[in-house]
Amino acid sequence: MSAPVGDIGLIGLAVMGQNLILNMNDKGFTVVAYNRTTSKVDDFLANEAKGTKVQGAHSIQELCAKLKRPRKIILLVKAGPAVDSFIQQLEPYLEAGDIVIDGGNSHYPDSIRRTQELEAKGLLFVGSGVSGGEEGARHGPSLMPGGSNAAWPAIKEIFQKTAAQVNGEPCCDWVGETGSGHYVKMVHNGIEYGDMQLIAEAYDILKRGLGINESEIADIFTTWNKGVLDSFLIEITANILKFNDDDGVPLVTKILDKAGQKGTGKWTAIAALDAGTAVTLIGEAVFARCLSAIKDERVRASKVINGPQRDAFRGDKQQFIDDLEQALYASKIISYTQGFMLMRETAKELNWNLNYAGIARMWRGGCIIKSVFLGDITSAYEKNKDLESLLFDDFFNKAVHKAQPGWRRVIAQACLWGIPTPAFSTALAFFDGYRSEVVPANLLQAQRDYFGAHTFRVVPGKENSRLPKGADIHINWTGRGGNVSASSYSA
Ligand SMILES: *[C@@H]1O[C@H](CO)[C@@H](O)[C@H](O)[C@H]1NC(C)=O
Ligand SMILES: *[C@@H]1O[C@H](CO)[C@@H](O)[C@H](O)[C@H]1NC(C)=O
Ligand SMILES: *[C@@H]1O[C@H](CO)[C@@H](O)[C@H](O)[C@H]1NC(C)=O
Repeated sequence: MSAPVGDIGLIGLAVMGQNLILNMNDKGFTVVAYNRTTSKVDDFLANEAKGTKVQGAHSIQELCAKLKRPRKIILLVKAGPAVDSFIQQLEPYLEAGDIVIDGGNSHYPDSIRRTQELEAKGLLFVGSGVSGGEEGARHGPSLMPGGSNAAWPAIKEIFQKTAAQVNGEPCCDWVGETGSGHYVKMVHNGIEYGDMQLIAEAYDILKRGLGINESEIADIFTTWNKGVLDSFLIEITANILKFNDDDGVPLVTKILDKAGQKGTGKWTAIAALDAGTAVTLIGEAVFARCLSAIKDERVRASKVINGPQRDAFRGDKQQFIDDLEQALYASKIISYTQGFMLMRETAKELNWNLNYAGIARMWRGGCIIKSVFLGDITSAYEKNKDLESLLFDDFFNKAVHKAQPGWRRVIAQACLWGIPTPAFSTALAFFDGYRSEVVPANLLQAQRDYFGAHTFRVVPGKENSRLPKGADIHINWTGRGGNVSASSYSA
């Protein structure tokens, strides 16, 4: 057999796989393609990949034989058992130092496990988030690889050249250890849910609150897309709102208001609860989809539950629209603040050394949440990689202060109108909680001690003989003793 020529192999010739192969080929790499249904390989070589350097393989053995060492093989197959099955099929043909890369939508605990399993066998594993859909795969996705650190030098060139580029910088960098690549992709998707919900709330306020129509709202989004909100999602929203059906009616108004979800937003919310981090905006975005899904029940409720009379807006419309832009911007700052807090907390727990500036850089292009804003987050973490939260960064601190008055006016007005703003409102509630030196958790602690003898600590400086410093104190609140104890109630 001739000397291996393949720089990288790819298993799974669905559209994503095909596009990623063609993209890597364009960047000068020799890709070896394999699909379980081997006729797909021949079809691909005879059609889409005709005239390229792409090589085909009709068996896993042939695939591995055609790859230069250390072998690099990307799996783009359905998340779950299929990934483990292909890893198992590959193992007999792999040698120490070879790299298996899972580019699918795997849940990060699986990637943690696979890293450990492969490393125990002397192999290397990479779990890589791939974002940007079919279009991104073909012309430059956002790539978020993490896993065996030793794999990065071997895949860096291919990954960074294949990824989207923004101002000459690749939207791909090493994320960190074990499952961190897929973790960061999960958080990316959660943030995407949040961004979309915020935009939807702004649309609702403009439409039902100010009473303006889709084409005018499209113009507002187009204007916003030239400022601090400049992003892919704002851009496509303007395009969607301008898109009319054949009868001239905005098509969006004919779409049933029941949102679907595939689960990555939910995963992020669950991860947040597990980590004990207040990622409230993504949580609300997931719940807003859940509420949307019970359409029939909402229709029945709308007949029997009244809200406030919605009077015509009498204030300065342009001022209100500017306020709304600031409300969206500030809420978005909170959402990303929360997302990065979650990644920090998880990194601490799992001993990951996450590259936060790199993560923001990876999201700047090639993916759904790409925006100018992510350049500012990159700068914040480049200035200080140990930044406690984005709100401590000068740029974002100033931005959120500037936005604050308009943000409050918008939410107050929406409340008076009875227009739901779960994402805007939770962002503001988080902001007000985060900036509060004192929150009413003293009362919660008293309640917990009253009914459950859960004990509390004293505010430094307020100690006395009854309330000693540094001790877990329990008070006999009723003077009657009582038959409650921590073992009978917990909260
Ligand atoms: C093979 O290709 C088809 C599409 O042509 C794709 O749906 C399938 O996931 C691929 N499967 C594997 C395991 O290679
Ligand atoms: C939308 O509103 C603008 C301004 O009131 C108006 O000129 C335009 O005709 C309206 N478009 C539609 C489709 O109703
Ligand atoms: C609480 O105080 C009362 C009255 O002084 C006393 O009778 C009772 O034993 C105390 N209960 C406990 C659990 O310390």
